[in-house]
Amino acid sequence: MSGSRFSFLLSVFMVFGSPAWAEDYLVSTPKTSLLISAEKGKKCYFQYYGPRVEKAADIFVSGNALWGNSYPTFGLSEGTEHALAVTFADGSLSVDLCVESVKQYATSDGSVTQVNLVDSVCPIAVSQYFKSYNGTDVMATWTEISNTGRKPFVVTEMASAALPLRRADNWISHLSGAWAAEHLLQEERLTNGQKIVSNLDGVRNTATANPSVMITLDGQPREEAGCVVGASLAWSGNYRLKSVATQGNLTLFAGINPTASAYQLQPKETFCTPELVFTYSTEGKGGVSRAFHRWARRYALHNGEAPRDVLLNSWEGVYFGVNQEIMDRMMKDFAAIGGELFVMDDGWFGEKYPRHNDMTSLGDWEVCKEKLPQGIEGLLASAKQHHVKFGIWIEPEMANTRSELFEKHPEWVLSQQGRQLTTGRGGTQVVLDLTNPKVQDFVFGVVDRLMTSYPDIAYIKWDANACVMNYASPHLPAQKQSHLNIAYHQGLRSVLERIRQKYPHVVMQACASGGGRVNYGLLPYFDEFWTSDNTDAYQRIFMQWGVSSFFPAAAMASHVSAGRNHQTERSVPLKFRFDVAMSGRLGMEMQPKDLNESELDFARRAIAAYKEVRPVVQQGDLYRLISPYDKQGFASLMYATTDKSRAVLFVYKMEHLYNMNYPTVRLSGVDENKVYRLRDLTPRDAARPSGFDGKEVSGRVLKYVGLSLASVFWGEYASLALELTEVR
Ligand code: GLA
Repeated sequence: MSGSRFSFLLSVFMVFGSPAWAEDYLVSTPKTSLLISAEKGKKCYFQYYGPRVEKAADIFVSGNALWGNSYPTFGLSEGTEHALAVTFADGSLSVDLCVESVKQYATSDGSVTQVNLVDSVCPIAVSQYFKSYNGTDVMATWTEISNTGRKPFVVTEMASAALPLRRADNWISHLSGAWAAEHLLQEERLTNGQKIVSNLDGVRNTATANPSVMITLDGQPREEAGCVVGASLAWSGNYRLKSVATQGNLTLFAGINPTASAYQLQPKETFCTPELVFTYSTEGKGGVSRAFHRWARRYALHNGEAPRDVLLNSWEGVYFGVNQEIMDRMMKDFAAIGGELFVMDDGWFGEKYPRHNDMTSLGDWEVCKEKLPQGIEGLLASAKQHHVKFGIWIEPEMANTRSELFEKHPEWVLSQQGRQLTTGRGGTQVVLDLTNPKVQDFVFGVVDRLMTSYPDIAYIKWDANACVMNYASPHLPAQKQSHLNIAYHQGLRSVLERIRQKYPHVVMQACASGGGRVNYGLLPYFDEFWTSDNTDAYQRIFMQWGVSSFFPAAAMASHVSAGRNHQTERSVPLKFRFDVAMSGRLGMEMQPKDLNESELDFARRAIAAYKEVRPVVQQGDLYRLISPYDKQGFASLMYATTDKSRAVLFVYKMEHLYNMNYPTVRLSGVDENKVYRLRDLTPRDAARPSGFDGKEVSGRVLKYVGLSLASVFWGEYASLALELTEVR
């Protein structure tokens, strides 16, 4: 269908509310198009996804149609992998979906094509949605599965999408890791067979893998060249992304992980699968990342376009040793170097059971008077006195068996009758049953009580340090026990909806044993995530690189911690630690009083410099220049404003060897027709900035010749943060 006919139909529908009638539906963004063929009574076909075309005929004439079933189901014709599987009340297993109607309409944030599919024999209907988000190159697809009969049936597989892709020399990029080493980039060629990226934690769905992948269509992944599809499942629970490659075909299935998740659908009930968001780039992985970042800041990250404060979090400074004096001192010292927000981490609560370690008190969100005799009021008064905002840590989905909450409501905890509780952190941690509306009210109440009692709280760090260990809900009836994995996250989402309705402005961080909740299921409610419990700047370079594939810098909390890192015991210079943290949302995670005078002076200058370039880093376009995974001895990345009038370059020395090779870094994110002035943002000695400082260089030279790193990088853990400003 031509672009003009498409918009004509769209306006016809918007005026008369009637469905469109053509067979081919082209869904487009400024740079991409997706083509669906949906003829009444036939299967719906996913024909094309790639660079923008103006009319469907272009796809057929050029021989690019894929003819993939848009939502393959188990049972009848295909004998292939499927997106949907159901067991009906009579025991039958097959589903056959054909098009009944198509609707196209506009929403406040995009344009939607809705294909309504029905089974002519069994009582099931599926609406499949394809949405383009206004002003971005990101689309979304999801389904609604409805029981149109009189008896319940069980959905045993419920993928959000099955995206057919062109089979070629395809490579997959995905993130994998473990606690304190999350989000490590993995890249491999897809051979015939299946590649599965999945998670079964139940709570922290990015602790080991991430529901996001990139797949190339033309060979090995490159940063700024090549055709790449990027996809991310916007879901906080268990997921499975499965790429199925055969001779000639490649399909990416993505959705809720069906393991232990059979879902009983009642008559007239509809189950909605999470959105799979995806984009297509002809500018390599960099293009995919930039498209996701722009879309996220506009639509999928809470308050995504607002500047983020520079904060100090108390955890690595004092761990559980919270008290009024130390908190006050940290606020004072942080304010003196330009800090804007202080966050009191774990250790502040518990009356009957004071929280001295991780074995007690979760659930008892009353201030521990023993440690904080002046209460939260005392802390807020300190914050006011020192002119910093105040934030607080909670872990509201959890309890310890040694807590007043557990004593009062043992039935609120996930547990199976007759079986001894399996416990997590501290030997006593358990997970609350968020499928229970009373528990949802309690979790909402934790935030609500804090915010109504202390409206000046500006920030909440929301932690979650356990997986689903005792798979059983005391609340759900027997036939719905298998809903737990899904219903937990539906419950969480409804709590977060309520919180955001009432408290749209409080900044919230998603933390889950570090980087366990870096997903687009939660980011609409959270302003940022804690990237990892590992704050070692050197190792962070690898993790932040991985995260940046799909998630924007504004959301990526990155903190400067102690000189001798508490996780790896590596010692790296303060400048290196700042230069790494400044490439995300800058913060600190230590006691500023442990810094000496010259270090404090450096920190003050670095924080001031970060504030100046904050709009570029937090809202700019990312260009990854030298990958730490390529083992070239260096890593480098840059951010640039959309008009490329300002940019910030970061370079890190990753290896230190005598007579090593020094690469040249080419700045792909500059405008070759501009001239830039360079400024060293973080000279170790203010009077002796790097040799690049103050120089004017043309974009053409920066982009094609590059900056040689030999002159500025001879020490171990050397690093550079350079601002580029257009002079003409
Ligand atoms: C988790 C978080 C940390 C810290 C501790 C507190 O490990 O990831 O940042 O908040 O809990 O107990």
